Amino acid sequence: MLDIEFVRSRFIKHFDGKTGNVYTSPGRINLIGEHTDYNGGFVFPGAVDKGIVAEMRVNGTDDIIMAYAIDLKDRVDFHLNDLEGPKASWARYIYGIAKEMQKLGVPVKGFNVAFAGDVPLGAGMSSSAAMESCFACGLNDLFGENKVEKWDIVLAGQATEHNYCGVNCGIMDQFASVFGKEGKLMRLDCRSREFEYFPFDPKGYRLVLINSCVKHELAGSPYNDRRNSCENVVRHIAAKHPEGKFETLRDCTWEQLEEVRTEVGEEDYKRAHFVLGEKDRVLAVCDALVAGDYETVGQKMYETHEGLSKEYEVSCEELDFLNDVARENGVTGSRIMGGGFGGCTINLVKDELYDQFIADAKAKYTAKYNREPKVYDVVISDGSRKLC
Ligand code: GLA
Repeated sequence: MLDIEFVRSRFIKHFDGKTGNVYTSPGRINLIGEHTDYNGGFVFPGAVDKGIVAEMRVNGTDDIIMAYAIDLKDRVDFHLNDLEGPKASWARYIYGIAKEMQKLGVPVKGFNVAFAGDVPLGAGMSSSAAMESCFACGLNDLFGENKVEKWDIVLAGQATEHNYCGVNCGIMDQFASVFGKEGKLMRLDCRSREFEYFPFDPKGYRLVLINSCVKHELAGSPYNDRRNSCENVVRHIAAKHPEGKFETLRDCTWEQLEEVRTEVGEEDYKRAHFVLGEKDRVLAVCDALVAGDYETVGQKMYETHEGLSKEYEVSCEELDFLNDVARENGVTGSRIMGGGFGGCTINLVKDELYDQFIADAKAKYTAKYNREPKVYDVVISDGSRKLC
């Protein structure tokens, strides 16, 4: 984790020499259940030991926010009451979450904030959710007497993406960042919002991320198109079955999908087909985890990759290449993680194959793409909290 003193020294230097409170929120991994959250399905995330650390302090003004992004060496000051908000994309997370916290009744006024992160940007590990939940945790503490409940913080983070950052995301990332627990994955039902902590300690296996370093960017991207396709299929199915209640693909069956195949077109059909399959795969993985059957978990991960690549079309050449290298090395499971369009693969590897696999992936990827992929061992950690 990032050093608090590092953030503190910058906070002191860039503002008035005083210290504030320090908060942190993590990024996340997701074992399985991709693009299912906004379809009312299941996800299986966990928080990681990489995230955002922010120092924050009330500055006594009515609505002036002074913000310093330490890693970018960029300072932006803005008024919270300004209708447009700041232009810098990182500052929009601060503006957006402050607005959303106000909507929840938190009387946010002027504050100073400096922050840094070690969750890699654009790696599909939810650096943006980490920022939202970190700032929300700070504002709740500084102005709101910590009265806002965790679920409302999750939803405020998601609303920030929707209303200020142009990404129509689901709730997985913000949920994982806020609710994460050391050593535990979480199975979340995104329709009912019920969830369960699952101890994750696969003896004899390791989880490792390989970052293709192809930067994934969800804003203004085909991410929203995928969501629209899913919603379109639901609308068609609902129109055919006025007696039923169809809110998301979670409510739809394979037969109903077949009924609308020609009218929705092959692209939307394939996307919905992936989502229905993914719903089943998450449940199969849960059973397999309970039984300690990691071979089945791994098999499902490969199936998810295949679906994300061929049906949902959110992979890229580099991620498919890394997936092939995993297969060649006898890795138990491997797939794209997160929204796609770049970022990391998540790999479930037997201890004894680990070194060989990592060396081979690095060598082959570097030879082909002329840059070394980054490797992160997964350490499942705690969610948002105040550090001091
Ligand atoms: C991004 C979104 C999430 C989720 C994943 C795909 O991370 O923010 O809500 O949809 O993509 O599973």
